Amino acid sequence: MKLFIDSANIDHIKEAASWGIIEGCTTNPSLLAKEGHDFKKTIEVITGLIPGPVSVEVTEFDADKMVKQARELNKMAKNIAVKIPICEEGIKATGILSGEGIKINATLIFSANQALLAAKAGAAFVSPFVGRLDDIGQDGMEVIREISEIYSFYMIDSEIISASIRHPRHVVESALAGADIATIPFSILKQMFRHSLTDIGIQKFMDDWKKSGLK
Ligand code: E4P
Repeated sequence: MKLFIDSANIDHIKEAASWGIIEGCTTNPSLLAKEGHDFKKTIEVITGLIPGPVSVEVTEFDADKMVKQARELNKMAKNIAVKIPICEEGIKATGILSGEGIKINATLIFSANQALLAAKAGAAFVSPFVGRLDDIGQDGMEVIREISEIYSFYMIDSEIISASIRHPRHVVESALAGADIATIPFSILKQMFRHSLTDIGIQKFMDDWKKSGLK
């Protein structure tokens, strides 16, 4: 399973990119609005820092306008994936843009049916939001499992991005459920490194080495 960072914060993306294990980035209008910097400049920096696909979302709601905006977004860098919300207009736009070779990330997916529709339209990625399903008392991971099973069964190429990750356990569960990618907030990526026994272990090895006098 590939790891993406779910952020529009340049400092966080820069640090995560320096680890050499982050293969993509997802943004959305809320994440970009939170940072409040110039949109084009921000995307230019992120696409330069991250080697893989950087998802940028359309803000139009009819197919013709989505297509026009997506073509403009796609021109911003070689590694852009355009996020389009799942709905009738979004599916029309996804079909047209995928046909032109533009990578589409079908977003705001909350059911396997929606993921099936997005795959039919040629979406390169589908993003089920597991955390938002858990928030309303549904089982987000079950949706990942269903999509993964359906896609394997019919050998569908669209990649499943497990999104709206709320805690490190969601990452493990996404991997077990068959997600191709997990897109993870910076704070949760940092938590994934940590285990109290690792910290204790590192300290002990360093102390023992220092005490020994060995060089
Ligand atoms: C992913 O593509 C989305 O940007 C993100 O994961 C949504 O997460 P949220 O539910 O925490 O807003």
